[in-house]
Amino acid sequence: MKTIDELLRQGVEGKRVFVRADLNVPLDGDTITDDGRIRAVLPTVKALLDAGAKVVVASHLGRPKGAPDPAFTLRFAAARLGELLGGPVAFAGDTIGSEAHSAVAGLENGQVAVLENLRFNAGETSKDDAERAEFAARLAALADVYVGDGFGAVHRGHASVYDLPRLLPAYAGYLIATEVGVLRKLTDDVKRPYVVVLGGAKVSDKLGVIDHLLEKADRILIGGGMAYTFLKAKGHEVGVSLLQEDQVPACLEYLERAEKRGVEFVLPVDVLVSADFPDLKTKAPANPTTVAATDIPADQEGLDIGPETRELYASKLADAATVFWNGPMGVFEHPDYAQGTKAVAQALTDSPAFTVVGGGDSAAAVRTLGFDENAFGHISTGGGASLEYLEGKTLPGLAALED
Ligand code: 3PG
Repeated sequence: MKTIDELLRQGVEGKRVFVRADLNVPLDGDTITDDGRIRAVLPTVKALLDAGAKVVVASHLGRPKGAPDPAFTLRFAAARLGELLGGPVAFAGDTIGSEAHSAVAGLENGQVAVLENLRFNAGETSKDDAERAEFAARLAALADVYVGDGFGAVHRGHASVYDLPRLLPAYAGYLIATEVGVLRKLTDDVKRPYVVVLGGAKVSDKLGVIDHLLEKADRILIGGGMAYTFLKAKGHEVGVSLLQEDQVPACLEYLERAEKRGVEFVLPVDVLVSADFPDLKTKAPANPTTVAATDIPADQEGLDIGPETRELYASKLADAATVFWNGPMGVFEHPDYAQGTKAVAQALTDSPAFTVVGGGDSAAAVRTLGFDENAFGHISTGGGASLEYLEGKTLPGLAALED
């Protein structure tokens, strides 16, 4: 993979450099609630600007349906990028139209423009190769060089991620180079004990990674909504907790495989339950009760791991040499259900292990719960991307940079 350092050595003064970033940040109206992904692309953008390039930043945000939708504008992300760079950032209200062309044409050396959401054009995500190729060709007309730095999107075979780098000289930016370097440490020669903590809502999103990690990890701790499908697979009733009934056989198979392979597979021993899902807007007290994980009442829903599980998981993390964590342990957005996620984050920050936090939700969780990012070995900007990397899959956006 050629990296941006090689490009900088060749010189980029006056060149139009297309930076495919992942500025898919969470928005509450026009407020960015976590700007981690914007900060993550700064080293690449700054290096290019300092070298006198004309930088064109492009990204997706959310999942609009192939047409402009104001709810998914990149305008606010562009403004935040400007604040972080401490200088003006031009914003084009389209991607391949007249605004994009005039914004790029107006760039002086060392200036930056951000294009509107790539997914406002159906060609970006199209499954039709020709439609994607046409969009990619029109994006290519805006630049001389491509720098891939949207690590969070490298698992998508989209026009700007997969097709465009084949049309221009292509290089990996600093973020992609860093992310890949870190994830390699989790796949090649991993230091043991290697402990993996998986949470989040759906077990179906994690099947591939569990399958793969059963061959790699020494210990797997399960929390979040997905824990209830595992508890059901062990024969326990889970009340009205999140349950993917169709995944029960897969969970059972994983539990059996873990036992055969000597991988310690740890499920919650107690959980916080309530009959009602908490109000995340008002954050009104939810008054949950703590019950054994084997004893969830029929009309109650599990919404966080309980105090005994918090201690158990902290002890299972204490001797780790390597930790990968993806997915919150509960509904951390509500203070009454944030303790489980906090306990895992705390255990990671207390640990001398090499710790990697992957996934938009867990990365946002550690920041919004007030943890110092620097206390972790690495906080990945990629959710699906880091999981698919750990599954051993070929990621289209990385493959395109290898060619
Ligand atoms: C993410 O949030 O994981 C990336 O930005 C990719 O977004 P997507 O899942 O909508 O492709």
